[in-house]
Amino acid sequence: MTKRILITGGCGFIGTNFVYYIRQKYPDYKIVVLDKLTYAGKKENLDMLKDQIEFVHGDICDKTSVEKATKDCDFVVNFAAETHVDRSIDDSEPFVLTEVLGVGRLLEATKKFNVKKFVQISTDEVYGSIEKGSFKETDILNPRNPYAACKAGAELLAKSYFETFNTPVVITRTTNNYGPFQNQEKFLPKAIISALNGKPIPIYGNGEQVRDWIYVLDNCDAIDMVLHKGKPGDIYNIKGGNEKTNLDLAKHVLNALGRPESLISFTNDRLGHDKRYSLDDTKIRNELGWSSKVAFEDGIKRTIQWYKENESWWRS
Ligand SMILES: NC(=O)c1ccc[n+]([C@@H]2O[C@H](COP(=O)([O-])OP(=O)(O)OC[C@H]3O[C@@H](n4cnc5c(N)ncnc54)[C@H](O)[C@@H]3O)[C@@H](O)[C@H]2O)c1
Repeated sequence: MTKRILITGGCGFIGTNFVYYIRQKYPDYKIVVLDKLTYAGKKENLDMLKDQIEFVHGDICDKTSVEKATKDCDFVVNFAAETHVDRSIDDSEPFVLTEVLGVGRLLEATKKFNVKKFVQISTDEVYGSIEKGSFKETDILNPRNPYAACKAGAELLAKSYFETFNTPVVITRTTNNYGPFQNQEKFLPKAIISALNGKPIPIYGNGEQVRDWIYVLDNCDAIDMVLHKGKPGDIYNIKGGNEKTNLDLAKHVLNALGRPESLISFTNDRLGHDKRYSLDDTKIRNELGWSSKVAFEDGIKRTIQWYKENESWWRS
Protein backbone atom coordinates (compact mmCIF):
# COMPACT_ATOMS: atom_id res chain seq x y z
CA MET A 1 0.00 0.00 0.00
CA THR A 2 1.16 3.56 -0.69
CA LYS A 3 2.91 5.12 2.26
CA ARG A 4 2.41 8.65 3.49
CA ILE A 5 5.40 10.46 4.99
CA LEU A 6 5.48 13.76 6.88
CA ILE A 7 8.76 15.66 6.51
CA THR A 8 8.87 18.61 8.89
CA GLY A 9 11.34 21.39 8.14
CA GLY A 10 11.30 20.16 4.52
CA CYS A 11 12.11 23.65 3.19
CA GLY A 12 15.42 23.90 5.09
CA PHE A 13 18.81 22.57 4.08
CA ILE A 14 18.72 18.85 4.92
CA GLY A 15 14.91 18.67 4.72
CA THR A 16 14.90 19.91 1.11
CA ASN A 17 17.54 17.37 0.11
CA PHE A 18 15.58 14.64 1.91
CA VAL A 19 12.32 15.53 0.13
CA TYR A 20 14.06 15.17 -3.27
CA TYR A 21 15.75 11.97 -2.11
CA ILE A 22 12.47 10.37 -1.01
CA ARG A 23 10.64 11.53 -4.16
CA GLN A 24 13.28 9.85 -6.29
CA LYS A 25 13.71 6.65 -4.28
CA TYR A 26 10.06 6.03 -3.42
CA PRO A 27 8.04 7.56 -6.29
CA ASP A 28 4.79 6.12 -4.90
CA TYR A 29 5.11 7.74 -1.43
CA LYS A 30 2.76 10.62 -0.65
CA ILE A 31 4.90 13.41 0.80
CA VAL A 32 3.58 16.00 3.23
CA VAL A 33 5.87 18.91 4.20
CA LEU A 34 5.15 20.96 7.32
CA ASP A 35 7.31 24.06 7.59
CA LYS A 36 7.02 27.39 9.38
CA LEU A 37 9.22 29.05 6.72
CA THR A 38 11.50 30.83 9.15
CA TYR A 39 14.45 32.80 7.71
CA ALA A 40 16.04 29.34 7.14
CA GLY A 41 13.19 27.83 5.10
CA LYS A 42 12.50 28.57 1.42
CA LYS A 43 9.33 27.20 -0.11
CA GLU A 44 10.84 27.79 -3.59
CA ASN A 45 13.33 24.98 -2.86
CA LEU A 46 10.51 22.55 -3.57
CA ASP A 47 9.02 24.37 -6.58
CA MET A 48 10.02 21.54 -8.90
CA LEU A 49 7.85 19.17 -6.85
CA LYS A 50 5.02 21.54 -6.02
CA ASP A 51 2.35 19.41 -7.71
CA GLN A 52 3.68 16.26 -6.10
CA ILE A 53 3.73 17.20 -2.44
CA GLU A 54 1.21 18.46 0.08
CA PHE A 55 2.54 21.58 1.77
CA VAL A 56 1.31 22.72 5.20
CA HIS A 57 2.57 26.14 6.22
CA GLY A 58 2.68 25.90 9.99
CA ASP A 59 4.62 25.72 13.22
CA ILE A 60 5.39 22.38 14.89
CA CYS A 61 4.39 24.12 18.14
CA ASP A 62 0.86 24.57 16.79
CA LYS A 63 -1.33 21.57 17.59
CA THR A 64 -3.82 22.18 14.76
CA SER A 65 -1.12 22.36 12.04
CA VAL A 66 0.67 19.34 13.47
CA GLU A 67 -2.48 17.22 13.61
CA LYS A 68 -3.52 18.26 10.12
CA ALA A 69 -0.12 17.26 8.74
CA THR A 70 0.32 14.06 10.75
CA LYS A 71 -3.12 12.49 10.29
CA ASP A 72 -2.98 9.32 8.13
CA CYS A 73 0.83 9.41 7.92
CA ASP A 74 2.84 6.20 8.21
CA PHE A 75 6.09 8.00 8.96
CA VAL A 76 7.23 11.30 10.48
CA VAL A 77 10.79 12.58 10.00
CA ASN A 78 11.44 15.69 12.05
CA PHE A 79 14.01 18.10 10.64
CA ALA A 80 12.21 21.23 11.91
CA ALA A 81 14.45 23.08 14.31
CA GLU A 82 16.20 26.31 15.03
CA THR A 83 19.72 25.35 14.01
CA HIS A 84 22.23 28.14 14.38
CA VAL A 85 24.33 27.96 17.54
CA ASP A 86 25.17 31.69 17.45
CA ARG A 87 21.47 32.58 17.40
CA SER A 88 20.87 30.27 20.39
CA ILE A 89 23.55 32.17 22.29
CA ASP A 90 21.84 35.49 21.47
CA ASP A 91 18.33 34.24 22.36
CA SER A 92 17.49 30.67 23.35
CA GLU A 93 13.70 31.10 23.44
CA PRO A 94 12.85 30.06 19.84
CA PHE A 95 15.10 27.02 20.36
CA VAL A 96 13.35 25.98 23.57
CA LEU A 97 9.96 26.36 21.90
CA THR A 98 10.66 24.56 18.61
CA GLU A 99 13.03 21.89 19.87
CA VAL A 100 11.08 20.98 23.00
CA LEU A 101 7.44 22.10 22.76
CA GLY A 102 7.38 21.47 19.00
CA VAL A 103 8.82 17.98 19.31
CA GLY A 104 6.33 17.29 22.10
CA ARG A 105 3.45 18.25 19.79
CA LEU A 106 4.79 15.98 17.04
CA LEU A 107 5.12 13.08 19.48
CA GLU A 108 1.56 13.56 20.74
CA ALA A 109 0.23 13.50 17.18
CA THR A 110 2.41 10.48 16.37
CA LYS A 111 0.84 8.66 19.31
CA LYS A 112 -2.69 9.81 18.52
CA PHE A 113 -2.58 8.78 14.83
CA ASN A 114 -0.56 5.57 15.34
CA VAL A 115 2.32 6.66 13.12
CA LYS A 116 4.53 3.62 12.41
CA LYS A 117 7.91 5.34 12.75
CA PHE A 118 9.03 8.71 14.11
CA VAL A 119 12.58 9.80 13.29
CA GLN A 120 14.00 12.58 15.44
CA ILE A 121 16.93 14.18 13.64
CA SER A 122 19.57 15.08 16.20
CA THR A 123 23.17 16.15 16.22
CA ASP A 124 26.67 15.16 17.37
CA GLU A 125 26.61 18.37 19.44
CA VAL A 126 24.51 16.65 22.15
CA TYR A 127 27.63 14.77 23.32
CA GLY A 128 29.71 17.92 23.75
CA SER A 129 33.41 18.16 23.04
CA ILE A 130 35.92 15.27 23.02
CA GLU A 131 39.73 15.65 22.92
CA LYS A 132 40.58 12.11 21.75
CA GLY A 133 38.58 9.12 20.52
CA SER A 134 34.93 9.20 19.43
CA PHE A 135 31.54 9.09 21.12
CA LYS A 136 29.34 5.99 21.03
CA GLU A 137 25.53 6.07 21.27
CA THR A 138 25.74 4.83 24.89
CA ASP A 139 27.94 7.73 26.07
CA ILE A 140 26.42 10.38 28.30
CA LEU A 141 25.10 13.62 26.86
CA ASN A 142 26.98 16.78 27.72
CA PRO A 143 25.59 19.58 25.51
CA ARG A 144 27.46 22.83 26.03
CA ASN A 145 25.46 25.49 24.16
CA PRO A 146 21.71 26.29 24.19
CA TYR A 147 21.14 24.80 20.69
CA ALA A 148 22.79 21.50 21.67
CA ALA A 149 20.99 21.45 25.03
CA CYS A 150 17.59 21.94 23.36
CA LYS A 151 18.36 19.17 20.84
CA ALA A 152 19.31 16.89 23.76
CA GLY A 153 16.01 17.82 25.44
CA ALA A 154 14.13 16.91 22.26
CA GLU A 155 15.85 13.53 22.15
CA LEU A 156 15.07 12.75 25.78
CA LEU A 157 11.43 13.67 25.25
CA ALA A 158 11.27 11.47 22.16
CA LYS A 159 12.92 8.57 23.99
CA SER A 160 10.47 8.97 26.88
CA TYR A 161 7.57 8.40 24.46
CA PHE A 162 9.17 5.12 23.42
CA GLU A 163 9.66 4.05 27.05
CA THR A 164 6.26 5.21 28.28
CA PHE A 165 3.92 4.59 25.34
CA ASN A 166 5.99 2.33 23.08
CA THR A 167 5.85 5.08 20.43
CA PRO A 168 8.16 3.85 17.63
CA VAL A 169 10.81 6.56 17.92
CA VAL A 170 14.30 6.34 16.42
CA ILE A 171 16.98 9.02 16.76
CA THR A 172 19.85 9.95 14.45
CA ARG A 173 22.87 11.93 15.65
CA THR A 174 24.75 13.33 12.69
CA THR A 175 27.92 15.31 12.18
CA ASN A 176 28.14 18.52 10.09
CA ASN A 177 26.31 18.20 6.76
CA TYR A 178 27.42 19.99 3.62
CA GLY A 179 25.86 20.26 0.17
CA PRO A 180 23.28 22.29 -1.80
CA PHE A 181 20.59 24.49 -0.21
CA GLN A 182 22.42 25.37 3.04
CA ASN A 183 21.78 28.85 4.38
CA GLN A 184 24.78 31.13 4.02
CA GLU A 185 24.86 32.00 7.72
CA LYS A 186 26.52 28.59 8.24
CA PHE A 187 30.30 28.24 8.04
CA LEU A 188 30.83 26.37 4.77
CA PRO A 189 28.38 28.28 2.51
CA LYS A 190 29.62 31.51 4.06
CA ALA A 191 33.20 30.50 3.22
CA ILE A 192 32.27 29.55 -0.36
CA ILE A 193 30.25 32.71 -1.01
CA SER A 194 32.89 34.96 0.57
CA ALA A 195 35.60 33.32 -1.54
CA LEU A 196 33.49 33.65 -4.71
CA ASN A 197 33.12 37.36 -3.96
CA GLY A 198 36.78 37.80 -2.99
CA LYS A 199 35.68 38.84 0.53
CA PRO A 200 37.28 37.80 3.87
CA ILE A 201 36.22 34.47 5.41
CA PRO A 202 35.62 35.03 9.12
CA ILE A 203 36.97 32.28 11.36
CA TYR A 204 36.33 32.01 15.09
CA GLY A 205 39.36 31.99 17.41
CA ASN A 206 42.37 30.18 16.00
CA GLY A 207 40.30 28.02 13.63
CA GLU A 208 41.57 24.81 15.24
CA GLN A 209 38.06 23.53 16.10
CA VAL A 210 37.56 20.08 14.57
CA ARG A 211 34.30 18.96 12.94
CA ASP A 212 33.42 15.90 10.88
CA TRP A 213 31.76 16.55 7.50
CA ILE A 214 29.17 14.37 5.77
CA TYR A 215 27.76 15.02 2.31
CA VAL A 216 24.05 15.70 2.77
CA LEU A 217 22.91 12.90 0.43
CA ASP A 218 24.92 10.37 2.43
CA ASN A 219 23.02 11.56 5.49
CA CYS A 220 19.69 11.23 3.59
CA ASP A 221 20.65 7.66 2.73
CA ALA A 222 21.42 6.90 6.38
CA ILE A 223 18.17 8.48 7.58
CA ASP A 224 16.27 6.42 4.99
CA MET A 225 17.83 3.25 6.45
CA VAL A 226 17.05 4.27 10.01
CA LEU A 227 13.49 5.10 8.98
CA HIS A 228 12.86 1.76 7.29
CA LYS A 229 15.12 -0.60 9.26
CA GLY A 230 16.06 1.16 12.52
CA LYS A 231 15.00 -0.47 15.77
CA PRO A 232 12.38 1.54 17.70
CA GLY A 233 13.89 3.13 20.80
CA ASP A 234 17.39 3.09 19.29
CA ILE A 235 19.88 5.84 18.51
CA TYR A 236 22.23 5.84 15.52
CA ASN A 237 25.38 7.92 15.06
CA ILE A 238 26.00 9.01 11.44
CA LYS A 239 29.25 10.51 10.20
CA GLY A 240 31.13 11.21 6.99
CA GLY A 241 34.57 10.25 8.32
CA ASN A 242 36.09 13.59 7.30
CA GLU A 243 37.41 15.38 10.37
CA LYS A 244 38.85 18.79 9.54
CA THR A 245 39.74 21.95 11.39
CA ASN A 246 37.72 25.01 10.36
CA LEU A 247 40.98 26.57 9.21
CA ASP A 248 41.81 23.64 6.90
CA LEU A 249 38.29 23.71 5.49
CA ALA A 250 38.52 27.43 4.72
CA LYS A 251 41.91 26.89 3.04
CA HIS A 252 40.46 24.03 0.99
CA VAL A 253 37.67 26.29 -0.30
CA LEU A 254 40.08 29.13 -1.12
CA ASN A 255 42.44 26.79 -2.96
CA ALA A 256 39.58 25.21 -4.90
CA LEU A 257 38.45 28.66 -6.03
CA GLY A 258 41.98 29.93 -6.73
CA ARG A 259 41.75 32.62 -4.03
CA PRO A 260 44.58 33.63 -1.65
CA GLU A 261 44.68 32.31 1.94
CA SER A 262 45.12 35.93 3.02
CA LEU A 263 41.31 36.18 2.77
CA ILE A 264 41.10 34.27 6.08
CA SER A 265 40.15 36.69 8.85
CA PHE A 266 40.28 35.56 12.49
CA THR A 267 37.57 36.90 14.82
CA ASN A 268 36.87 36.60 18.56
CA ASP A 269 36.02 33.02 19.47
CA ARG A 270 32.39 31.94 19.95
CA LEU A 271 31.35 31.69 23.61
CA GLY A 272 31.67 28.12 24.91
CA HIS A 273 33.01 26.97 21.54
CA ASP A 274 33.47 23.18 21.55
CA LYS A 275 36.95 22.11 20.47
CA ARG A 276 36.20 18.82 18.75
CA TYR A 277 33.19 16.67 17.90
CA SER A 278 33.73 13.06 16.90
CA LEU A 279 31.42 10.09 16.47
CA ASP A 280 31.86 6.33 16.34
CA ASP A 281 29.47 5.01 13.68
CA THR A 282 30.12 1.27 14.16
CA LYS A 283 26.50 0.64 15.14
CA ILE A 284 24.84 1.86 11.94
CA ARG A 285 27.52 0.14 9.85
CA ASN A 286 27.18 -3.21 11.60
CA GLU A 287 23.45 -3.29 12.27
CA LEU A 288 22.02 -1.56 9.20
CA GLY A 289 24.89 -2.02 6.72
CA TRP A 290 25.17 1.71 6.01
CA SER A 291 28.36 3.49 5.06
CA SER A 292 29.08 6.94 3.67
CA LYS A 293 29.78 6.89 -0.06
CA VAL A 294 30.69 10.40 -1.16
CA ALA A 295 34.39 11.22 -0.83
CA PHE A 296 35.02 14.64 0.70
CA GLU A 297 36.93 15.91 -2.37
CA ASP A 298 34.01 15.00 -4.61
CA GLY A 299 31.30 16.33 -2.25
CA ILE A 300 33.03 19.66 -1.74
CA LYS A 301 33.53 20.06 -5.50
CA ARG A 302 29.82 19.43 -6.09
CA THR A 303 28.91 21.85 -3.29
CA ILE A 304 31.12 24.67 -4.57
CA GLN A 305 29.76 24.11 -8.08
CA TRP A 306 26.18 24.34 -6.78
CA TYR A 307 26.82 27.72 -5.09
CA LYS A 308 28.51 28.96 -8.27
CA GLU A 309 25.52 27.96 -10.38
CA ASN A 310 22.82 29.14 -7.98
CA GLU A 311 23.79 32.70 -7.21
CA SER A 312 20.16 33.85 -7.43
CA TRP A 313 19.26 31.33 -4.69
CA TRP A 314 21.77 32.68 -2.15
CA ARG A 315 21.31 36.29 -3.19
CA SER A 316 17.54 36.16 -2.52
N1 LIG B 1 23.03 21.08 9.22
C1 LIG B 1 23.76 20.23 9.92
O1 LIG B 1 24.98 20.12 9.72
C2 LIG B 1 23.10 19.36 10.97
C3 LIG B 1 23.89 18.42 11.67
C4 LIG B 1 23.26 17.60 12.60
C5 LIG B 1 21.91 17.71 12.84
N2 LIG B 1 21.18 18.65 12.18
C6 LIG B 1 19.74 18.71 12.43
O2 LIG B 1 19.09 18.48 11.20
C7 LIG B 1 17.86 19.22 11.14
C8 LIG B 1 17.82 20.07 9.91
O3 LIG B 1 18.91 20.97 9.92
P1 LIG B 1 19.15 22.01 8.75
O4 LIG B 1 20.57 22.35 8.75
O5 LIG B 1 18.47 21.53 7.54
O6 LIG B 1 18.33 23.25 9.32
P2 LIG B 1 17.79 24.58 8.59
O7 LIG B 1 17.95 25.67 9.60
O8 LIG B 1 18.43 24.74 7.27
O9 LIG B 1 16.24 24.28 8.35
C9 LIG B 1 15.31 24.19 9.40
C10 LIG B 1 13.93 24.15 8.78
O10 LIG B 1 12.97 24.02 9.84
C11 LIG B 1 11.95 25.00 9.68
N3 LIG B 1 11.44 25.33 11.03
C12 LIG B 1 12.11 25.96 12.02
N4 LIG B 1 11.31 26.10 13.10
C13 LIG B 1 10.12 25.51 12.78
C14 LIG B 1 8.91 25.33 13.47
N5 LIG B 1 8.75 25.77 14.73
N6 LIG B 1 7.89 24.70 12.84
C15 LIG B 1 8.03 24.25 11.56
N7 LIG B 1 9.16 24.41 10.86
C16 LIG B 1 10.20 25.04 11.45
C17 LIG B 1 12.62 26.16 8.97
O11 LIG B 1 11.69 27.00 8.32
C18 LIG B 1 13.55 25.43 8.02
O12 LIG B 1 12.88 25.09 6.83
C19 LIG B 1 17.79 20.00 12.45
O13 LIG B 1 16.99 19.30 13.35
C20 LIG B 1 19.23 20.04 12.93
O14 LIG B 1 19.30 20.13 14.33
C21 LIG B 1 21.74 19.49 11.24
